[in-house]
Amino acid sequence: MRILSVVTFAFVSLVAYLPEAYADDASEGRDLFIRQCIGCHAFACNKQGPRLGGLFGRNAGGVEDYGFYSEGLKNSDIVWSEETVDAWLEDPGKIAPQSVMIIYGKVEDPPLRRKLIAFLKTEDPTINICPQ
Ligand code: HEC
Repeated sequence: MRILSVVTFAFVSLVAYLPEAYADDASEGRDLFIRQCIGCHAFACNKQGPRLGGLFGRNAGGVEDYGFYSEGLKNSDIVWSEETVDAWLEDPGKIAPQSVMIIYGKVEDPPLRRKLIAFLKTEDPTINICPQ
């Protein structure tokens, strides 16, 4: 009986602890970024995709030393905000039909997009894996 109650206690504590551990949107967004975006993006440098440092408030297609924007994104007149980044990640093809992001950058789940946007705002330097 004693063992059973210890196990039960451990289980209940674990369940009670989990929502706490995952409460932080930005850290969940970080996990998603590492799974889905880090191959092409960093905050500090251009990779296959443009750098994402200073994203909010800048024009879409606006990183001057990045040479691979699609015409659709460059000509879009979008300024990046929570709303426009959300729309971009929901369906990049609506904005830039030729974009590589259509295949690899789409995030269909709205709460996941919210978490990713929270993470993008942190500009966390620990994920900057830049070519030397
Ligand atoms: C296969 C490589 C690739 C992946 C994976 C990828 N992207 Fe991109 N990303 C690009 C490219 C290329 C562009 C430029 C798109 C264009 O010009 O149409 C871009 C553009 C962007 C832009 C607009 C930047 C600007 O300067 O206007 C944002 C924001 C962005 N990506 C976020 C993300 C996020 C967040 C993820 C992960 C969910 C992601 N991307 C995954 C390649 C990628």
